[in-house]
Amino acid sequence: MSTFPLNAWYACAYDVEVKKELLARTVCKHKLVMYRKLDGTVAILEDACWHRLLPLSKGRLHGDEVTCGYHGLVYNSDGRCTRMPSQETINPSACVRSFPVAEKHRFVWVWPGDPALADAALIPDMHWNDDPAWAGDGKMIRVKCDYRLVLDNLMDLTHETFVHGSSIGQQAVAEAPFVATHGNRTATVTRWMEGIEAPPFWAGQIRHASGYEGAVDRWQIIRFEAPATINIDVGVAPAGAGAPQGDRSRGVNGYVLNTITPESDTSCLYFWAFARNYCLGEQRLTHELREGVASIFGEDELILEAQQQAIDEHPGYSFYNLNIDAGSMWMRKLIDRMIAAESGGPVKPRVIPLRSAA
Ligand code: FES
Ligand SMILES: [Fe+2]
Repeated sequence: MSTFPLNAWYACAYDVEVKKELLARTVCKHKLVMYRKLDGTVAILEDACWHRLLPLSKGRLHGDEVTCGYHGLVYNSDGRCTRMPSQETINPSACVRSFPVAEKHRFVWVWPGDPALADAALIPDMHWNDDPAWAGDGKMIRVKCDYRLVLDNLMDLTHETFVHGSSIGQQAVAEAPFVATHGNRTATVTRWMEGIEAPPFWAGQIRHASGYEGAVDRWQIIRFEAPATINIDVGVAPAGAGAPQGDRSRGVNGYVLNTITPESDTSCLYFWAFARNYCLGEQRLTHELREGVASIFGEDELILEAQQQAIDEHPGYSFYNLNIDAGSMWMRKLIDRMIAAESGGPVKPRVIPLRSAA
């Protein structure tokens, strides 16, 4: 059974990565080649020549057409062959698959499943990434693990206490109660930590933005949207200033945007950004935050790859679930539902089965 649904939009590149040149990426086990056309839109084709399967990414781009680097077949951006060397008639079956593509919120999205179902309205909302009311930037990292391990990691932030102790972690995250809810395609985990000492990262942000030093109310609202996007509303405000009741005007607010694309069952492309609603004009802060978050995510990367290695060494092992895994259990359930709906059958056992400690 697959570990991911195919009928979904997956980020396959940051906008700046796709230029007027050939870029190879793997999404859901599909080898893709993408490039920017003369009109600025993006084309995505199967990365395998119809003739003898040489990856088209090893060929050349001329205008909107790709010339295979082996025997020179030429394909247009719909994947149709438009020229064959040494013959005038073009075999009508000569084409490679082209994929539905969209560009939104600074990501290039591809739909690897049934093209007839590709509806642009289903692209996850990540508007903080290009909304003028927010400032920020992000990166893409390739992580050698099942994409669901990254999602697990983001659905349960108690790990901050143990993995990110020098920046955003603090005992309160592991101790504060949280509420987990879900809808048909979403799962949300909300945690408020009221009247606490801010961890180093947030103490620095609120001091920089407003000069405030003192106890804070801290929040983390983690929202998963199936199959692979998690936007986390995070921040701190002066303790007692009304943030938990809805008035965050004296606080600092950030969004950690994450969308994770499976390459295979054991590797993924992790696209992220950190957007903030304070000190919008400070380009230096944008740079510092992006690099700071990158080093925090570097700590996760080590954990996730070590975890995947251990999973590979324990085939058939079922995970135990704790209270802190409530959000991740819903996340996995919603993904499994999408996979089952696609395969037309009932939900079959998961590749990484879950079991309860209770
Ligand atoms: S393999 Fe591409 S033209 Fe022959
Ligand atoms: Fe983390």
